[in-house]
Amino acid sequence: MIIAIDGTSASGKTTLARRLAARLGYLYFDTGVMYRALTLAGLRQGLDMSDEPGLSLLAEGITIDVTSPTASDGRPCTVLMDGEDVTWAIRSPEVDDSVSQASIYPGVRSALTLQQRRIGLRGRVVMVGRDIGTVVLPEAELKFFMTASLEARARRRHAELTLLGETVGLAEVERSLAERDRIDSQRAVAPLRAAPDAVVIDTTELPAESVLALALDRVAARERTAPAEDARGPAGPGVSGGAQERK
Ligand code: DC
Repeated sequence: MIIAIDGTSASGKTTLARRLAARLGYLYFDTGVMYRALTLAGLRQGLDMSDEPGLSLLAEGITIDVTSPTASDGRPCTVLMDGEDVTWAIRSPEVDDSVSQASIYPGVRSALTLQQRRIGLRGRVVMVGRDIGTVVLPEAELKFFMTASLEARARRRHAELTLLGETVGLAEVERSLAERDRIDSQRAVAPLRAAPDAVVIDTTELPAESVLALALDRVAARERTAPAEDARGPAGPGVSGGAQERK
């Protein structure tokens, strides 16, 4: 089975995907790291984020590898950019502020989407991003779309950055998230959007354990039944949608 998880920044996609993948013995693959690694490479080369030809060329030439963790420092995976370990470097506020802009270009997206699709089609994967259920792997058997209030998401991201030793303020984190959401959802190619058959989860009030529990319910329902009958899984607080429910 291919499980697609899309949604706004800091909505809990990564937490759910990691836990789901661990429980199911699936590969966890966060496609955001590819856009982040490309952005880091562009910033280091002094490219302006408005340089579409430069960034597209970079995307075609760069080698981004995502492997299982190579260090026990809390990383969910190791990210290699042309062989260099950039797992933590891609989480800096500078990359946060530039990555959405670098991600709007068709040339960048087609180069990275191709690699993502190749990995996803092997199956037994939980793939996280903005356009997995709509563009990268629309054939995914199960799709989740996660969201939460801007305030809740800013609090979470701020806590993560503080843990990484960054001293950015909460208001600045909130501003940065709002701006990324705006760019991600308004871009012309593969905008952030729920697939029509996605199960929408609002995590504002839901603890991570509850989110995992309801996702596992959906997986079990999906495994038990044929797609056409697959249905009416338990919808709890914060849960809505899903083509299965409408059938
Ligand atoms: O999930 P994240 O915050 O690491 O993603 C960083 C950026 O990468 C996000 O703002 C938009 C872009 N992205 C994308 O356009 N498509 C994806 N499938 C994943 C990420």
